[in-house]
Amino acid sequence: MKELSLLQEIVNNFYTALESITTLKELDRITNNFLGKKGHVTQLFQQIKTLSLEEKKVFVPELNKLKETIEEKLTKKKESIIKSEAATLANTESSFDVTAYKPLEGHAGHLHPYTGFIEEIQDIFISMGYDVWDGNYAETDYYNFTALNIPEDHPARDMYDTLWLNKKNYLLRTHTSTVQIHQMEEQKPPLAGIVPGTVFRHEAVDASHDIQFMQCEGLFVDKNITLAHLFGVAKTFLQKLFNKKELDIRIRPGYFPFVEPGVEIDMRCPFCTSGCSTCKKSCWIEVFPGGMVHPRELALSGIDPEKYTGFAFGFGLTRLAMIKYGIPDIRLLQSGRISFLKQF
Ligand code: PHE
Repeated sequence: MKELSLLQEIVNNFYTALESITTLKELDRITNNFLGKKGHVTQLFQQIKTLSLEEKKVFVPELNKLKETIEEKLTKKKESIIKSEAATLANTESSFDVTAYKPLEGHAGHLHPYTGFIEEIQDIFISMGYDVWDGNYAETDYYNFTALNIPEDHPARDMYDTLWLNKKNYLLRTHTSTVQIHQMEEQKPPLAGIVPGTVFRHEAVDASHDIQFMQCEGLFVDKNITLAHLFGVAKTFLQKLFNKKELDIRIRPGYFPFVEPGVEIDMRCPFCTSGCSTCKKSCWIEVFPGGMVHPRELALSGIDPEKYTGFAFGFGLTRLAMIKYGIPDIRLLQSGRISFLKQF
């Protein structure tokens, strides 16, 4: 019977193939070759119908035995491959030397100077009882201007080179003062907080101007708040930031529609006593604009100006970082240049 010799041939072929298998992928292929839809064993099963009864009696048990043996051998092989693959993996893992990588000297990571500076500012204000607030970059005309006492056609709008968005009445905030309004709408006095945040202006970029930089707004509203409180806070903050107990401030009048009166607070140059390049030989540096929150702004935000007063300030956080660290070009702060960042 030729089917029996065919069966013997398949047995031999199977054992040869089995020996060569080392991966699960190969095992799948061999399984398919022998037991799959068009596999050798399957084809033998299809021959059965061509055999005589006598032949069937001999052939069918042999064929069933063959199928069982092949299945059994393949299962065993599968287990042994899985075991040996696990052993190889364990071996490579145990020989992985975690001390082999040595970072180059001087390349240790650290906070970005901006992040470090913001944290320093926050720590100082938090120590004085302030909250830290956040706000949106995209704002409406109302929060950036109108609610801050800068109605449409007010010439003060020219102070802010605004980047308008495609959506009507929407802009990228030109200052962090927008958050004053949101906070006064949401909270009842007493309230005190700062907003370190990015602002945007339509500027020609050079060493001291960028279309994007950071400001830090401050707001304090309660009963009986006066300008003296603002001066005290400004002085304490600058003394702590520059780590100088005696750092002096001076006050000049300033104009912002949302404060009345408005002031410019200058600090005595922390780097010299007789004039240097940072203070442009004047010994004073303009750093801290502020004033008393305009009563109209209070009323518009739902706070009774007969009962409450408050001060606000909004200093250039980027500018202050440049002064403190002697950074000559505003673009460096945003550049991600390693040679620059490594100095901090
Ligand atoms: N928002 C003002 C500016 O960007 C600064 C400021 C804030 C002035 C708060 C007074 C009070 O120019």
